[in-house]
Amino acid sequence: MSKSDTPRRPRTQVVRAGRRAEWTGGIVNPPVWRASTILYDDVASLRERGAADTHHRLYYGRRGTPTQWSLADALTSLEPGAEGTFLYPSGVAAIAAALLAVLSPGDELLLVDSAYDPTRAMAAGLLKRFGITTRLYDPLIGAGIAQLIGERTRAIFMESPGSLTFEVQDVPAIVAAATARGVTTLLDNTWATPLLFPAVARGVDYTILACTKYVVGHSDVMLGSVTAGPGRFAKLRDTSFQLGQVASPDDCWLGSRGLRTMAVRLRQHQESALTIARWLADRPEVATVLHPALPSCPGHDVFIRDFLGSSGLFSFALAGGGEAERAAFIDALDLFGIGYSWGGFESLVIPVDTGRHRNVAVRAPAGPMVRLQIGLEDPDDLLTDLDQALAAWQVARG
Ligand SMILES: Cc1ncc(COP(=O)(O)O)c(C=O)c1O
Repeated sequence: MSKSDTPRRPRTQVVRAGRRAEWTGGIVNPPVWRASTILYDDVASLRERGAADTHHRLYYGRRGTPTQWSLADALTSLEPGAEGTFLYPSGVAAIAAALLAVLSPGDELLLVDSAYDPTRAMAAGLLKRFGITTRLYDPLIGAGIAQLIGERTRAIFMESPGSLTFEVQDVPAIVAAATARGVTTLLDNTWATPLLFPAVARGVDYTILACTKYVVGHSDVMLGSVTAGPGRFAKLRDTSFQLGQVASPDDCWLGSRGLRTMAVRLRQHQESALTIARWLADRPEVATVLHPALPSCPGHDVFIRDFLGSSGLFSFALAGGGEAERAAFIDALDLFGIGYSWGGFESLVIPVDTGRHRNVAVRAPAGPMVRLQIGLEDPDDLLTDLDQALAAWQVARG
């Protein structure tokens, strides 16, 4: 819906992208088009549609409707240089489809040790069962990844920063080493989104979002996406079709609605999370803060070099105590919901036990760790809440 071809900045794109007049008429948001059967005028048109490339043409419900195409197009346009986006019913489904699109029996996957736990479980379970082996690598390996690339290495899966321990990876160095050896790169970019780390422009072949988080932004929809770099989309689309993947039009509609405010929400998440992370870093009850924008976070220098900003999720370690004292701190919080996921409008908290999730390069802080998702509440209220919960932690320590 643009009258000119002037390139748009990303914050303009989240507002405008994916809104094609031929899909929506004058309606601002593409409506929810639900479909399974699509009716044809006659046998000839049924055969013609079936034979043609059905991209952006109604064919059968599983291939989507303008509701899904609009969101997919918008996400593609946020990644300069990307070829296309496929949507999935969850972030984990997106990760699975991307990995299955690029790996075959006998291949080896290099997987960052700080990856989201279900990604690790997928490698140790599903991929192993199909004859694909996985080698875990240190998130701070950088160009050293070249030493791990062997004859069978087909893909490298990165997540930067890791969503529990927040090490920032040197994605450009890893991409350079991979490209030199013809190895495909995948990145779980959920924390940064394309607004803070345009992954395809930085050479990543497949960039993955759990849209459940910042795209949707309201803690009420499961949704995932994979955006493919140049020449990479057909493989992803074919594999996803073969897997029968389709994201529901209702969920995609909510995803599109969330996307329109993602940039402004992210700005607030960034500002409030930084205020709180810095406040925590000055507290005697806190041993260390793992926020990529703070020097105490491993990979901070890479963060400063590569990212356009930070989002609302980080961890910190309490300066002592154990499970019971940490639980006393978390249970005392009033404005932080105890629950998984992040990227919504509400602040959340969970305990983090990294030992369970790590095999190489374990560099967890000494004290018990807590992860915070900083929502859109007034940060002063969140600080007051954290202050009284730290007092409860002190009481529990005796
Ligand atoms: C970094 C990261 N990637 C992927 C996912 C999976 O997304 P979903 O919950 O939509 O399957 C999550 C969920 O917490 C996550 O934190």
